[in-house]
Amino acid sequence: MSIIIKTPDEIERMRIACRLAADVLDYIEPFVQPGITTEELDRLCHDFMVKEQGCVPAPLNYAPSGYKPYPKSICTSINHQVCHGIPGPKPLKKGDIVNLDITVIKDGFHGDTSRMFIVGGEGSILAKRLCQITYESMWLGIAQVKPGAQLGDIGHAVQQHAEQAGFSVVREFCGHGIGRKFHEEPQVVHYGRPGTGATLKEGMIFTIEPMINAGKAAISELPDGWTIVTKDRSLSAQWEHTVVVTANGVEVLTCSPKAPPVPECVAKVPNLIVSRFDA
Ligand code: MF3
Ligand code: CO
Ligand code: CO
Repeated sequence: MSIIIKTPDEIERMRIACRLAADVLDYIEPFVQPGITTEELDRLCHDFMVKEQGCVPAPLNYAPSGYKPYPKSICTSINHQVCHGIPGPKPLKKGDIVNLDITVIKDGFHGDTSRMFIVGGEGSILAKRLCQITYESMWLGIAQVKPGAQLGDIGHAVQQHAEQAGFSVVREFCGHGIGRKFHEEPQVVHYGRPGTGATLKEGMIFTIEPMINAGKAAISELPDGWTIVTKDRSLSAQWEHTVVVTANGVEVLTCSPKAPPVPECVAKVPNLIVSRFDA
């Protein structure tokens, strides 16, 4: 078992899958309003992926060992839900924070990305700060990516920023290699020490997707077998991009016109390519 290095042709196919996943988030954004149910968001995304994009929604019936098949096409994690929330009949309320996590399969390759949405545009000061710090943490992790850097450099950058803000990093779930399979090696944990872990090489593709809790790091699983919540019921946020290690830096594959810009706290990243913001 080892980390797959993608060929230029495979990277091009990943660019396409990843951009399509980001486009689903752009598409669904205006629908994320008070009163809509997450089941309705799932249906809208499902139909967009299948009918407009000619994609397969990767979560639908996804069944890693030890799990029953995931029943929906997207993940919707609200407030104290950390990840893998199953869309359901409960309407969103003004001030809720919700993560929408989209993974599409196109031409045999997976694109995986998620964003936070503040329902009705107005959340509590804490909710807004948690979403912002988590977004910055993801980008500080991305900024570490280049050939020769190590996975621990990414984890450390994420952890440092989240904990400095008084928040905590979820340990049990992590970023992952991605390509022909949804979850490949390596595991990209969001904590650690610089100069530790696998060394990055040109052509590796993986996600960075920190889950950050406003309270303690501990989580529990709901009886549905999928939904993860914070044990102390504190708010949790997550953002996710898929990235490829380039010859001298990093290319972010899951940007699209409505993806928020690179945050200001991320000092100029040398050799950053954001395949995106236009067209
Ligand atoms: N998209 C999630 C990730 O980022 C995985 C969801 S698995 C599912 O890795 F089955 F819940 F969809
Ligand atoms: Co992922
Ligand atoms: Co995801």
